[in-house]
Amino acid sequence: MAKTKTVYRCQECGRVEPKWLGQCPSCRTWDSFAREMEQPKIPTAATTPASSRPVSLGEVETVSGGRQSTGSAELDRVLGGGLREGMVVLVGGDPGIGKSTLMLQCLSHLAGACPPVLYLSGEESARQLKLRAGRLGIGGKSSEGLLLHTETCLERILPWVEEIRPRAVVVDSIQTFRTERVNSTPGSLVQVRESTALFSRLAKERNIPLFLVGHVTKSGTLAGPRMVEHMVDTVLYFEGREGQGYRILRAVKNRFGSTNEIGVFEMTGRGLKEVENPSALFLSERPLDQPGSVVVPCLEGSRPILVEIQALVAPTPFSQPKRTALGVDGGRVALLAAVLEKKMGLSLSGHDIYLNVAGGVRVSEPGADLGIALALASSLLDRVIDSRTILLGEVGLAGEVRNVARPELRLAEAAKLGFERAIVPRRAAQNGKKDKAGKGLELWGVDYLKDALRKGLGKG
Ligand code: TYD
Ligand code: MG
Repeated sequence: MAKTKTVYRCQECGRVEPKWLGQCPSCRTWDSFAREMEQPKIPTAATTPASSRPVSLGEVETVSGGRQSTGSAELDRVLGGGLREGMVVLVGGDPGIGKSTLMLQCLSHLAGACPPVLYLSGEESARQLKLRAGRLGIGGKSSEGLLLHTETCLERILPWVEEIRPRAVVVDSIQTFRTERVNSTPGSLVQVRESTALFSRLAKERNIPLFLVGHVTKSGTLAGPRMVEHMVDTVLYFEGREGQGYRILRAVKNRFGSTNEIGVFEMTGRGLKEVENPSALFLSERPLDQPGSVVVPCLEGSRPILVEIQALVAPTPFSQPKRTALGVDGGRVALLAAVLEKKMGLSLSGHDIYLNVAGGVRVSEPGADLGIALALASSLLDRVIDSRTILLGEVGLAGEVRNVARPELRLAEAAKLGFERAIVPRRAAQNGKKDKAGKGLELWGVDYLKDALRKGLGKG
């Protein structure tokens, strides 16, 4: 056996040094080195057990490959159609957002569908979990297959997992677990990395779907180690705005599905409820016929969702006007403001610009360009865009309006919600008329931003 050697690793950037250093030479962080055991040198094939030899593709035994529903259509969609055997999922989010609630509800369903399942909690006592379960209406016969364990040392957990052979495992949260393999506190980079590695090996070897819960810091990164994201199959973020009841579950990485899917939930007094019609929810508090407010049909994965974009353009006495964008990319807004200024002669430079996507939704696709541009113009000119009109299209630097992906899906959603008119790229209008997309919607095709402004705001 090769001997292990002690090394010191920076907890921030991962730099390895033979000696402890006060400051990391790479990332300049102070007091970030912790001791760990270096892995022995690469062994030869002769000293490796036969079980670890490479196999040919034909030899690999396939598992059924089927998907297990989590009992929640929203969660299933974000996972790419349900859980797979051996799938390791990281669920990140701010404390208090509802990660544990989501996990408990999911496990409670799985406990009924494929017992036993195991909830490993490093944060709450079994009694606290029971209280929450009571609130969620979980109990009785179906909860018999739901096992709780509040131990945080992996060496003491893994034998039980072997014994119980659970069909799904939740680890809540990965930052509270530790393994005796490394000598460092729970939550540190080394501990989280080693614990994640051990848990995922367990999931892969035993074909158990595994959820790892992780806390996220204010800046939006996973507290401590970002690298956990690289070690798992799927990364989901659970987000929501303070003071608002609903939550959005978003896939940011998925080896088994699309990453654009979102799931929408509402936090109620009895746990998370699925929101079947997010568009209606996001538009429910929209002020009607107000300048600066427009509705855009966005595509989140395979699902069209209507969102309200609000702009406030106000004169400023300062030479450096403010540009604030929430829910859309600030660079995109600056670009559209420049196009409005140059091509349409709208003077935005002496104005502060505030842009907001209502309801805490994030819009990252260019299909919202036309909506953003018209919201800005509408607020600047103090003219209303009819509240039964939706706007769709990408805007180019020449002020041209370009077609977007899947306009027919978006138009259909708008028609379903009672909108009457859509200002869309010319090609989308032509195709839409041919295919009868968005029946009941009047389609106004435009080539340039100025046509859209004329049609939407009566300017020109
Ligand atoms: P929790 O799942 O503990 O969040 P996390 O694990 O992400 O830290 O959820 C905590 C919040 O959710 C808390 O503020 C209480 C609220 N909540 C409800 O509103 N209704 C419920 O049924 C439950 C269980 C929690
Ligand atoms: Mg929790």
